[in-house]
Amino acid sequence: LPSRRLMGRHVIVTSGPTHEPIDPVRYIANRSSGAQGAAIAAALRDLGARVSFITGPAEVPAPEGVDVIAVETAREMRDAVERALPADAAVMAAAVADWHVANARAGKIKKDGSGQMPGLQFAENPDILAWISQLHQGRPPLVVGFAAETDNVLENAAAKRLRKGCDWIVANDVSPATGIMGGHENAVTLISDAGAESWPRLSKPEVARRLADRIADELAGARE
Ligand code: C5P
Repeated sequence: LPSRRLMGRHVIVTSGPTHEPIDPVRYIANRSSGAQGAAIAAALRDLGARVSFITGPAEVPAPEGVDVIAVETAREMRDAVERALPADAAVMAAAVADWHVANARAGKIKKDGSGQMPGLQFAENPDILAWISQLHQGRPPLVVGFAAETDNVLENAAAKRLRKGCDWIVANDVSPATGIMGGHENAVTLISDAGAESWPRLSKPEVARRLADRIADELAGARE
């Protein structure tokens, strides 16, 4: 059954932004529609994989036929990824906030007449991609990260792959001139041990199908 090449495989996909609360009504977030992550989860599902789709508050709906685990913060996302293990592959497409507010308030912050917002203190969030890539036990055999860059895209992405310890990095240029951010298309370069392979500008579902195919190739190779 060549069309169900990921039957019996479990793949974790993170997607969307994370929201890091300041108080009950305000938060800090990264810009992310969740469209590419949702398309990847759907493409993996179409190849027969069981998909754990761990998503922050995204604009696009989660695909049908995947296990949806909705989270809010980076810390919740990391915990959900940990609970979803073991997996044959992990694709970290979420735009995770790098920091959370360490002095988040339980009640709504009110204006106090000073004209100043009370100071926020930040603490670093877990780097989920680096953490899963460097797991001593239970590391998925294939870990894929993303690198959205505005400058020196390939150099930065290749350095990121080595720094985080993931197997592949999907690099894309998100400088405003490309119109990629929030758009329907993506122009990516897949970086692995074997080098860098640039794909043409494709719709996000097409990028997802190609990536899912490559993941299926890789896992099939690893089985032999
Ligand atoms: O370091 P940077 O945020 O550019 O790395 C992007 C990659 O790392 C993406 O795959 C993203 O999902 C992942 N990431 C993560 N946890 C973080 C930050 C980034 O999994 N805290």
